[in-house]
Amino acid sequence: MHALVTGGAGLIGSHLVDALLARGYEVTVLDNLEPQTHPLGKPPWIPAKARFIQGDVRSLDDWKTALDGVHVIFHQAAFGGFTPEISYYLDANATGTALMLEAISRHRFPVQKIVAASSQAIYGEGTYECPQHGTQYPQPRSLSQFEAGRWEVECPLCGQAMLPLRIAEDKPYDGKTPYAISKFATERLVLNTGKQMEIPTVALRYSVTYGPRQSIYNPYTGVVSIFSTRILNGLPPVIYEDGQQTRDFTYVGDIVSANIFCMEHEECNWKPFNAGRGERITVKRLVGALLKMYNREDLEPECSGSQYRPGDARHMVPDPSRLESLGWSAVTVIEEGLGHYANWIAEQGGVEEYFSEAQKRLIELNVVRSRKAAL
Ligand SMILES: NC(=O)c1ccc[n+]([C@@H]2O[C@H](COP(=O)([O-])OP(=O)(O)OC[C@H]3O[C@@H](n4cnc5c(N)ncnc54)[C@H](O)[C@@H]3O)[C@@H](O)[C@H]2O)c1
Ligand SMILES: [Zn+2]
Repeated sequence: MHALVTGGAGLIGSHLVDALLARGYEVTVLDNLEPQTHPLGKPPWIPAKARFIQGDVRSLDDWKTALDGVHVIFHQAAFGGFTPEISYYLDANATGTALMLEAISRHRFPVQKIVAASSQAIYGEGTYECPQHGTQYPQPRSLSQFEAGRWEVECPLCGQAMLPLRIAEDKPYDGKTPYAISKFATERLVLNTGKQMEIPTVALRYSVTYGPRQSIYNPYTGVVSIFSTRILNGLPPVIYEDGQQTRDFTYVGDIVSANIFCMEHEECNWKPFNAGRGERITVKRLVGALLKMYNREDLEPECSGSQYRPGDARHMVPDPSRLESLGWSAVTVIEEGLGHYANWIAEQGGVEEYFSEAQKRLIELNVVRSRKAAL
């Protein structure tokens, strides 16, 4: 079998490449070495055994070259983040996926399966329970709520603070950011157009993923790398809101096993699945675990309760039960996964810190704001 891994130089793609080679697959990597993620060019972890194509998913010609002889595709290449390059998210993620399907159809490549990376971002704010009104799918918190520092999500009917629930796949799509919109397009394209083309496809909605090889240069995505590079430079991690917001931090090895599981199981075809641990972890707890890991518990995190990102989800913990019921599960607990990451970053020698500059830009762009009342 010959697998194409797009984005195969990145965090998830590169570990997939290793896992596929270990299983005896022939592997092609299509990656444009996006400069924000790979400022030094081709990373050393791309194995010589893989066919590497430096190319762009926005180019039909590059797809044509990459798809030659390929049976299965793991489509990981994408541009992620909160920055205002609105059209670029759509170009790389939506049009990039459309071009993949177009290239297959135009040149009749005999592709047998596609597993594509979607994201939890498509859910928007998530699922909550009001003690009085039951399950709610609220809208993002308003600017005035952020400004008042009322961080918890309130019931749209009665205004009471609500309990966050794990998010199941049947929650209606409600992502608001260009990234979320582009990922929804990726997902719909592979599931719907893929079905029309009679190619089995799966969309995996990943939780926040971390692990060795997560770019240590990109200050816009990858919270574990962002916090780690701050701590290793003796700077306090900067926490937005009050640090009690929650995410489901999932180790890259588990996301790789979810991809391979979906590739190998027909019952996954033409469906979206959450891929994550389904464990609720506060950002404060993540930071605490990292400070301990790096032996820097003397550093007090910067969490003034004044900074926030308008539109940010408060609690985002997808429920992986659907994929678990078919036989897959994430096995790596956070302390273990962070340990693998810390060992890897230690091997990188001195790391620099790019967040401070990026933070200034994000404040200028209003992507990050400070509560006026708190100033
Ligand atoms: N890491 C997470 O927390 C997370 C969460 C949800 C979804 N995802 C999705 O998982 C996938 C992999 O993410 P990752 O964390 O490994 O990110 P990453 O940035 O480490 O890897 C992405 C790779 O794609 C490449 N790439 C970007 N634009 C490209 C283009 N136009 N053409 C070709 N290659 C391009 C980059 O050079 C990079 O090597 C992405 O689709 C991402 O949206 C990631
Ligand atoms: Zn209510």
